[in-house]
Order: sequence, then C-alpha cells, then structure tokens
Amino acid sequence: MKNLLLNNNTKIPVAGIGTFLLEPDDAQKAVISAVENGYTLIDTANAYMNEKAVGRGIKQSGKSREDLYISTKLWPSVYKDADNAVEQTLKRLDTDYIDLLFLHQPVGDYIGAYKAMERAVENGKVKSLGLSNFSVEQIDEIISKTSIRPSVFQVEAHPYFPQNELKKRYPDILIMAWYPLGHGDKKLINEEIFKKLAEKYKKTCAQIILRWHTQAGNIVIPGSKNPEHIKENINIFDFTLTDDEIAEIARLDKNIRYYNATKEGLEGFLAFAPDFNSQK
Ligand SMILES: NC(=O)c1ccc[n+]([C@@H]2O[C@H](COP(=O)([O-])OP(=O)(O)OC[C@H]3O[C@@H](n4cnc5c(N)ncnc54)[C@H](OP(=O)(O)O)[C@@H]3O)[C@@H](O)[C@H]2O)c1
Repeated sequence: MKNLLLNNNTKIPVAGIGTFLLEPDDAQKAVISAVENGYTLIDTANAYMNEKAVGRGIKQSGKSREDLYISTKLWPSVYKDADNAVEQTLKRLDTDYIDLLFLHQPVGDYIGAYKAMERAVENGKVKSLGLSNFSVEQIDEIISKTSIRPSVFQVEAHPYFPQNELKKRYPDILIMAWYPLGHGDKKLINEEIFKKLAEKYKKTCAQIILRWHTQAGNIVIPGSKNPEHIKENINIFDFTLTDDEIAEIARLDKNIRYYNATKEGLEGFLAFAPDFNSQK
C-alpha cells in the first residue's frame, strides 16, 4: 500500500476502509475482509458505536498492530473530559495507541479537547492529530491556541466538492475524504465521464473516482460492507488518469456538499451523548 508523508514526518496509507453506519458485526467483518484484501488503514469514530467491533476485527485479522493504521474521532459530548475519552477509546479499540485522532465536530470545548489530544501525543498514546468538519476560522483558532499542528483534515470531498480552498490554504495538511463516493450516490458514480473512463481503463466508475482522489493527493476511506466493493475499492493503483482526464473531472466541481452543517445541527451533535462503552 502506498503511503503519504504527514507534516509530522509519520506515514499514512493513501487508502483505507470507512466504517460509518456499519453495525458492529458488519464493521468487524468489513475490517477482516479489508485486511485480507491488503488494506492497512481503518477509519472509525466514537459516534459510529463500532470501535469495539473494529478492535475485534483487527485482532482477528491476524495482522500485527504496527502493520495497521487506525484513525478514530472524539465526539463533542466527550470534549469536556477528553483525557479520559482518549483512554476509553484506546480500551474500546483494544490497542495501546491510535495512529490518527480527530476532533469529530466543531462544537463544544474543542480547544480543551485538542489540548488533551496533544497530551496524548506527548504520552505516546496518539501519533498524529486531525480535525474533521472544522471551518477555516475554527482551524486557525485551534492552530493559534495550541502547539501541535494538525496533520489531516477529514472532510467531505468528492468530484462535486473537491475542497480546493482548504488544500490551497493549508498545503501541508492532507485531506482524508469522507463521502469519497458521494455516500454511494448513483448520480455521481454514473456521471458520463466516469463511465467513459471506466470503459477505457477496464475499471468500475467507483474505481475511477477513487483513483481521481488519490491522484489529487487525497486519502480515501470508502465505506462498504460488501466484500466485492471492498476488494474493488483498493484495486485502483494499476492505472493512471491523464492530466486531460483530471481536467475533465474537475468540471464536475459544483461546489455542492451532500451535508451542510447548520447551527441547530451542530447543537444536536453536542446534545447527542450516548454511552460509548455500551457498544457491543
Ligand atoms: N468525519 C465525518 O464527519 C464523516 C462523515 C461521514 C463519513 N465519514 C467517514 O468516511 C467514510 C466514507 O464515507 P461513507 O461510507 O459515508 O460514504 P462513501 O464511502 O462515499 O460511500 C459508501 C456507500 O457507497 C457504497 N459503495 C462502496 N463501494 C462501492 C463501489 N465500489 N461501488 C458502488 N457502491 C459502493 C457503499 O455500499 P456497500 O456497503 O453496498 O458497498 C455505501 O453505501 C465513512 O465510512 C467514515 O469512515 C466521516
């Protein structure tokens, strides 16, 4: 698996599996299937309620911990007690360290939580830090009030919304694309340009989109519980899109997100406070 170098001099795999909305059993099976197919990066989150299952999948995969890369995210309801939240996350994942830890949403005491994540880096419990769904203003606020620069932004990114502004403003911070396939949106996946390129390269439209991401410098974490898709989504490194093809795909940029955060939505995130340890 190809790795990218982060701004803290650690390496991250360019492609992995996402586990959003996967029930524990499905998440566990998806992780095992992903590792069997050569994936080394697994993305989860407190809020997915499947960290224990991801941890079990990793153990069952038989791979040693150092050969895998785990990213997870603290949910806003634990920001106020984030030192403890990191410990609880480690326990649920059944691991000694987290490769990449994100703040999941820009609400609540995110500065306090980021400082707790910095302490976890100092203690060797976390290797790299990231921000998910934060605005430029909030990112700049965090950078100005803390000492470890984030290494990765996990944000919505796909051909309809390629995140060009964020990339331009923070060239040293990598984009990990969520909804890399538009959450399975058939309209995106079946755009004519992808059908044309799929035909040319003898790939599927999803593979063309994922290859476009990686050529754009993005880390991709397509979510799937379908073993065929899991296999397909990592098999994207034996062809290269041309500059003209990349330029044609760039015309799909509609500056349209599938998810737009509202003030009420963010307040709802803060109010969502399940017992993360109750997960199966
Ligand atoms: N930080 C955040 O706020 C945030 C938000 C959303 C997601 N995420 C992360 O980003 C990951 C990716 O996002 P996502 O899973 O929501 O969306 P996605 O990867 O864009 O799309 C997943 C959907 O596409 C389908 N799919 C997967 N591979 C396919 C293929 N080769 N051909 C056709 N359909 C395919 C999947 O169904 P099958 O199961 O049938 O394959 C699933 O319905 C998540 O799993 C999660 O780890 C983070």
